[in-house]
Amino acid sequence: MAMSLRLSLLPFQSPTDASMLRLQQPPPSIIAFSSIVAVASSLPPSQTAMPPNPPSHIKSGASFLRPHLLQLAPYTPIEPFEILSARLGRSVKDIVKLDANENLYGPPPEVLKALGCMDFPNIYPDPESRRLRAALEVDAGVEAEHILVGCGADELIDLIMRCTLDPGDKIIDCPPTFTMYAFDAAVNAASVVKVPRLHDFRVDVEALARAVKEHSPKIVFLTSPNNPDGSLINEEDLLEILRMPVLVVLDEAYIEFSNQSSRMKWVKEFDNLIVLRTFSKRAGLAGIRVGYGSFPLSMVQYFWRAKQPYNVSATAEIAACAALKNPIYLENVKEAIIKEREQLFTLLHDVPCLTPYPSHANFILCAVKGGRSAKKLKADLAKCGVMVRHYDNAELRGFIRISVGKPEHTKALMTALQTVLRDSAAIQE
Ligand SMILES: Cc1ncc(COP(=O)(O)O)c(C=O)c1O
Repeated sequence: MAMSLRLSLLPFQSPTDASMLRLQQPPPSIIAFSSIVAVASSLPPSQTAMPPNPPSHIKSGASFLRPHLLQLAPYTPIEPFEILSARLGRSVKDIVKLDANENLYGPPPEVLKALGCMDFPNIYPDPESRRLRAALEVDAGVEAEHILVGCGADELIDLIMRCTLDPGDKIIDCPPTFTMYAFDAAVNAASVVKVPRLHDFRVDVEALARAVKEHSPKIVFLTSPNNPDGSLINEEDLLEILRMPVLVVLDEAYIEFSNQSSRMKWVKEFDNLIVLRTFSKRAGLAGIRVGYGSFPLSMVQYFWRAKQPYNVSATAEIAACAALKNPIYLENVKEAIIKEREQLFTLLHDVPCLTPYPSHANFILCAVKGGRSAKKLKADLAKCGVMVRHYDNAELRGFIRISVGKPEHTKALMTALQTVLRDSAAIQE
């Protein structure tokens, strides 16, 4: 019993596991403790053997880590569906998930069909994702030799940094924006120069030019449409930034929902431009993880050498190829989301405590007004089963971001908003 006890306590040392266990109610430590003991006790004795005592000169495991990683702030991801469901005490189908800009229409039916009859799950995937890159060549209008595929655009952001940044190098981030740029910079021991966006969320090009001069950063990350507000970068600003001595990474994760065309082809003209896109939003494949980017030829060969050979799973390649086989579905879903975004914007405009911002993406950012807390509003909506994202940090205080779903999701959100506002008015009376 003592042995199994010792083994069972080890997992609690991971903050991730500990915070997941905290989500189970009530009382989490007792449930988690007893269930893990039960699992450990039922293992055969050979698997529950005590590890030998380590020699005394072995230091803490953390001492082996690269020092800058010890300073890393943990990334706070969105809660997985099942954990959310347990925490809210609601079944998954009773949760309206508008907090992570997922595509609630899901992928074309061809995707599940193709995955269901996948031929060789036992064989490693094509390290060059040739089939998918050929399909993307047609879809994006840029030759496959410029295209690299990744385990989500997230992987490509990290890969770009791993290939370009030495410890101590700088990147420019234009907050509020997608937080992975700053997160990956920290993982890669780079520092972040922040050039905050203007009041209307446009990139402050003058301030950016000054920062480039002063700090000589390696990379500038631009997001268009920008997450969390949905604004676009205009051509004039982009061209001006491309003339600066810096690598420009243009993240177009949401470009399909805008009236602007992708700049993927521009990498043929600009040797300092990388354009990133993803299947997560346009094709409803966020859970499968497929992103892609177009790169100048002068650069892409080195990314090929540095990437993990099997970074794109066979499942991911099959799913993305199947999705591209049904462009009509993708187009119809895009149109439906744009239509719903306009409808949602009109409705949010009439909510007294919210000011929505016009968006070119599949989400709408809203300022929360009238002394109301964005955090509390998010929590109150969650109690009604509607998840939205809130912002209460130095870069964006008192905002919520709502993903655009189907008409029924808009309806559920508006009903929940009415309930929350009515209840809080009743409390004040
Ligand atoms: C601007 C932006 N870029 C990239 C991503 C990540 O895309 P992927 O799911 O392909 O990793 C997101 C996800 O929300 C995003 O908002």
